[in-house]
This record gives sequence, C-alpha cells and structure tokens, in this order.
Amino acid sequence: MKIGVVGAGNVGSTVAFYAALQGLGDIALVDISGDMAAGKALDIQQAVPSLGTEVIVKGGDDYAALRGADIVVITAGVPRKPGMSRDDLVFTNAGIMKSIVPQVMHHTENPILIIVSNPLDVMVHIAHQVSRLPKERVIGMAGVLDTLRFKTFLAKEACCSFSDVDAMVLGSHGDLMVPLISHCTIRNQPLSQVLSTKQIAALVERTQQGGAEIVGLLKTGSAYYAPAVAVLDMVRAIIKDSKEVLPCSVLLEGEYGEEGVFVGVPVRLGKKGVDAIIELSMTDLEKEQFSSCANGVRQMILQLSPD
Ligand code: NAI
Ligand code: 2OP
Repeated sequence: MKIGVVGAGNVGSTVAFYAALQGLGDIALVDISGDMAAGKALDIQQAVPSLGTEVIVKGGDDYAALRGADIVVITAGVPRKPGMSRDDLVFTNAGIMKSIVPQVMHHTENPILIIVSNPLDVMVHIAHQVSRLPKERVIGMAGVLDTLRFKTFLAKEACCSFSDVDAMVLGSHGDLMVPLISHCTIRNQPLSQVLSTKQIAALVERTQQGGAEIVGLLKTGSAYYAPAVAVLDMVRAIIKDSKEVLPCSVLLEGEYGEEGVFVGVPVRLGKKGVDAIIELSMTDLEKEQFSSCANGVRQMILQLSPD
C-alpha cells in the first residue's frame, strides 16, 4: 500500500511519522515548501531502520510522488491563530484545496481522499466536488479526534480507564458538534447514571472547545498529535479493510434526514472507503443539534459561492 500526504506541516508530518511507525505502507509527503517536505521525509526515513518496518518515505513539492497512492491525506492549509474560529479559515483554505485536488487526481488512480484541512466539513465538500470521486472515497477526519477528546475528559471526570468509556461525537467539526450523550456509557452504564447533568454539560462544552483550548496554549498553530492519531485510525481501518465504525464527515443523501451535505456520522470503513453509514437513534434535542450542524455547513458553502 502507499499513503500520500499533502501538507508536510505539523499534522501532515506527524501522520507520515505514525504511518511509518505502524509500517502501513510507503509514504509520499508533498508540500508547497518542497525542501521542508524532503527534509522531513528524510528524517522519518532515517528512523525506519529502528522501527522494524521497511517503508520507503519520500518528500518534495512534486505531486508525481503520489503516483500509486491508494490513500491521500490532505492536511495542507493554514491553521488558526488564538481567537480565530475554524470557519475564519474558509476562503484561504478553499483556494488551497481547489488548487491541490486536481494535482492529486492527475497523479493518482481512484484514490481514497482523507481530508483534514479546516473548516473540515466544507473542505471535504470541495474535495468531493473537484475530484469527482464517488462519495464513498472522499472522507473527512474530525469526529474521531473530537471523540478522542470527549473520551479523555469523560474518563478523567469519572475516574475510570479510557477503555471503560464508550462515546461518539457527531455533527460538524466546530462549536456546534454533537457529543452523543444518549449513546454514551461508562462501564456499560448510561452516562446520566454516572455523572451529573452539570458535569456532563461542562464536558460537552470542553469537547466543543477542545481545539481552541489547545490553540490558546500553543499560541502558534493548532493540535497535531491527537489529530494525526485520528487520521491513522481511519487509514488503518481502510488498509486493513477492518470495517471498523468511526465517526467521519461524509456526504449524506437522506441519512439522518439530511440531503447533499457533508457532516460527521458513524461509518463503517474498509478498503473501498465508506462501506456503510450507520444510522443511530437520537433524542429530539440531538436531532435538532445535528440539523443545526448541517445547516451551518450549508451556510458556509453558500458564503463561498453565493450563486
Ligand atoms: P501547518 O501550518 O503546520 O501545515 C500546513 C502545511 O500546508 C504547511 O507546511 C504549508 O506549507 C502547506 N501548504 C499550504 N498551502 C499549500 C499548498 N497550496 N500546497 C501544498 N501545501 C501547502 O498546519 P497543521 O497544523 O498541519 O494543520 C493543517 C490543517 O489541518 C489546518 O487547516 C488545520 O486547521 C487543520 N486541522 C484539522 C483538524 C481536524 O480535526 N480536521 C485537526 C488539526 C488540524
Ligand atoms: C482541532 O480541533 C484545529 O480543528 C483542529 O484541533
């Protein structure tokens, strides 16, 4: 297998490193800053002899390096600064996405695209439109990261191990995201029997602000270790054809009552990309929150192309 990564910044280079650690396939790292991508690729390659894997890692600014890639992870774009929302990045990153996807498509054959750049759900929409790939092969990463954050906060608050927590965050990758309380359990008990309403509300809010909390601490750039792990969870499910269910931003065509919009829902991932969208039951409040997410994504897309 071969994994292409476009954008060799914090997230992209960490994705490449984790992929090399896990020996998932050869890696091509492409960035507008070619020497930086080449340098990071060489650095990662020189770690490989100690990792017990045999992967080849190459980097540069030439998209031809992506030839033969089965999966291409797109992380190119600008990250936010303190005080900015992900949505503030929309015009800059939309332009970058529109310039990258045709080059990816020119050098690959029917790849699976995993989009990471923000605002996530809008960027996946653009990548799908520009690539003309089937909807099953254009997938956004956000829900896996948001779920990791929610699980981290829940385990700490409930003083339990991470593996005791079952949770999932759906909706858009922004302040409106929906940690699905009705399906959340701790040691197989409903969350409402383990934590108080006030505790749950605080953890939901911290999850919704999880990216901003890290931006505020880092001062420059945004999170990348957990985002890269989240990408690798998806890459592994696809490469191993594991059919694992993970929350991902995918095109809804009637599922969850939404039409023609990319938003985060549980999907079964395998070697063809999205194998199936899993429809979970939701409370009336969760349905309302989910629908606000979808409408928020639609509004941003309209803002980009008002005609
Ligand atoms: P970064 O600034 O460290 O890296 C971005 C890279 O993109 C840079 O190396 C830059 O040279 C490259 N780039 C910019 N324009 C390009 C172009 N036209 N062609 C090729 N490469 C280009 O940023 P970082 O932290 O890696 O984040 C990348 C993106 O991912 C941001 O938009 C960020 O908001 C988003 N993100 C999304 C997450 C999610 O959950 N979906 C999680 C973390 C980050
Ligand atoms: C995050 O949630 C920046 O979207 C990115 O950390």
